[in-house]
Amino acid sequence: MNTPIIDFIREYQEREGTRFHMPGHKGHVFFGWEPFDITEIPGADVLHQGQGIIRESERNAARLFGAGGTFYSTEGSTQCIKAMLAILCMERGHCVGGKCQRGGYQGGGYLDGERQRMSRPWILAARNVHRSMVDACALLDLDVRFLWGDSPGSLCSHVISPRQLEEALRQGGDRPLAVYVTSPDYLGQMEDIGNLSRICNREGIPLVVDNAHGAYLHFLKEKCHPMDLGAAMCCDSAHKTLPALTGGAYLHVHPRFGERFLPYARQAMLLFGSTSPSYLTLQSLDYCNAYLSEGYEERLEETLERVREWKRMFGEAGGRVLPSEPLKIVLDTAGHGYSGREIGEELRSYDIECEYEDQSFVVLMVTPENTSRDWERLREWGKNTRMLWHPQERIPVAAGERLLSKRVMSIRQAAFSRSEMVPVEQAAGRVCAAETVSCPPAVPIAICGEEITRAMVGEFKKFDVKEVSVVL
Ligand SMILES: Cc1ncc(COP(=O)(O)O)c(C=O)c1O
Repeated sequence: MNTPIIDFIREYQEREGTRFHMPGHKGHVFFGWEPFDITEIPGADVLHQGQGIIRESERNAARLFGAGGTFYSTEGSTQCIKAMLAILCMERGHCVGGKCQRGGYQGGGYLDGERQRMSRPWILAARNVHRSMVDACALLDLDVRFLWGDSPGSLCSHVISPRQLEEALRQGGDRPLAVYVTSPDYLGQMEDIGNLSRICNREGIPLVVDNAHGAYLHFLKEKCHPMDLGAAMCCDSAHKTLPALTGGAYLHVHPRFGERFLPYARQAMLLFGSTSPSYLTLQSLDYCNAYLSEGYEERLEETLERVREWKRMFGEAGGRVLPSEPLKIVLDTAGHGYSGREIGEELRSYDIECEYEDQSFVVLMVTPENTSRDWERLREWGKNTRMLWHPQERIPVAAGERLLSKRVMSIRQAAFSRSEMVPVEQAAGRVCAAETVSCPPAVPIAICGEEITRAMVGEFKKFDVKEVSVVL
């Protein structure tokens, strides 16, 4: 597959012309990559208003992923998630503080007490949303109603069943603007996107998927990317599982939803994106098209075989691994009596850095770019870990404690209120003003506008959060 962005920039830097344009390094080498770091000069196209090389490259990506339209982000899935919710608002004609053109919604103002009582458009979401989704709700004045699903004992995972969704949608009252799920999540748990999207399509409600961890799913033997399974829109962080630079991500719109959502996609991405996108990141997204179209499926399958083999070996030795999406290894350290943090430290002594560690789990993210040496180290650790040689009594995992609370004000109202930081011990009974999250996994423990409960305080402590922002 061709790489128009890479080709243009290579030619430009080989010409060694004089750069009286941004960036300030002028292509001189400080770190090594500066000659390839350009800005929107003639011929380089304009991200989100693309007509040239960026548009061409995005079309290549759309073809590869089977999307009706694909849009590049250099600011991660974070930008795409905000854009997806903005697209829903634009298509519906929801405007903050104003009148809705379609669908009968009249509210949205957040200062006027009378209007506040009128319901605003809302999203029905599985509870393990990334903070960017809540931020989008604050910016766009949306409400969320949460579904609490099956969880291995962590806020990171809430897998909802198709029946649960059907029941939630059967309840009367206003219909949601969209159903929103995170799949795969930080612990590699996956939603049944095929069945959820069938239900949503039957009900005429778009299914929007945070697929930040799952760009590669389209390239498995059994394709299970949200675009394969009928979701209306999704985002993929290319940088999480593909060889893209940090920040490289895609917003995909399903061909069946093209007519409804494509007209708004660029405008929505612009709303939340910088006017100075990184061309280094754009080149890496351009490169991914070539990478994915040239033998990636085979390389991915070889890698999955390595993962399966490692899990088999570790399991036979008595190691506990959580079932998960294929490119993650989720160690159930609590099952062996150790916190994820203790085992994270142990891995570090083998020069292995994990993606995520908490009280109960360690998550390792694998790609075909992991080398034989990486696997050798992991095998070595697997043979020697104290999880196997000195097992302790299982650490009880709270059974996915439901952090239920009272909503005191809208997400937007709380997010734009005057606020103060207080120690978590003093937070119970106050109203959350900003999501305080540990990063990763960046899943909010309390949502803006909710009253902070004692259970939430306990959860903050588990994630080592010391202070939270509350409404004054
Ligand atoms: C589930 C999930 N969604 C969204 C994001 C945001 O992605 P990005 O870092 O590409 O902005 C993350 C980040 O880790 C994530 O884990």
